[in-house]
Amino acid sequence: MGASSQPAEWNAAFLVGKALLETVQRLTLVAEYRDEDAHSHCRRVRYYTEFLVKQLGISDPDSGIMVFSSPMHDIGKVGTPDSILLKQEKLTPQEFEIIKTHTIIGEKILGGSSNPYLESARKFALHHHERWDGSGYPFGLKGADIPIEGRIMHLIDNYDALRSRRPYKLPFPHEDAVRIISEGNEITGPKHFDPDVLDVFRSHERTFREIFETLGEE
Ligand SMILES: [Fe+2]
Ligand SMILES: [Fe+2]
Repeated sequence: MGASSQPAEWNAAFLVGKALLETVQRLTLVAEYRDEDAHSHCRRVRYYTEFLVKQLGISDPDSGIMVFSSPMHDIGKVGTPDSILLKQEKLTPQEFEIIKTHTIIGEKILGGSSNPYLESARKFALHHHERWDGSGYPFGLKGADIPIEGRIMHLIDNYDALRSRRPYKLPFPHEDAVRIISEGNEITGPKHFDPDVLDVFRSHERTFREIFETLGEE
């Protein structure tokens, strides 16, 4: 072994670490391939998360871990039947109940690890449909009982979904999406969001627009 070589254990640990990160990225692709909208959504999620965690004052290593793990939030959709995931019409209440289980399936896929990347991804997957006022799922957690990963992703997902085309709805312009999140409509409203996350969104809505429009729908 030359003087400049690293010890064998160091190389092995380094390679295992690299392999873990790469495996996690590939897992994200599994979910993206199920649903054609998911690919560009996941790319944008990373940037929205990066911006939000910075504005919320979350520092490294937590911020870097969250940026990396956020695109895995919908990994549990691998367990949702195609007939529901790809349905062109509005879902029935029974189908909606099945969709809701993607949070629990995500936790099963990602849970049980002491690795901080997987633990952060697990929180994104399990909690991204919880709402600040307790009206979300799967547990109806309220306020700061919802891990920050869930509070961040709930706002990101709502903004991005409002801007995106769906089989049952046209995309909303940026101004309408901001108004719906800030003032509410019959589905979404400000009481669903962590007030600190909502403040960042309101103060920097142009950054959200920029991310959506730069990495827009393909
Ligand atoms: Fe989801
Ligand atoms: Fe999402």
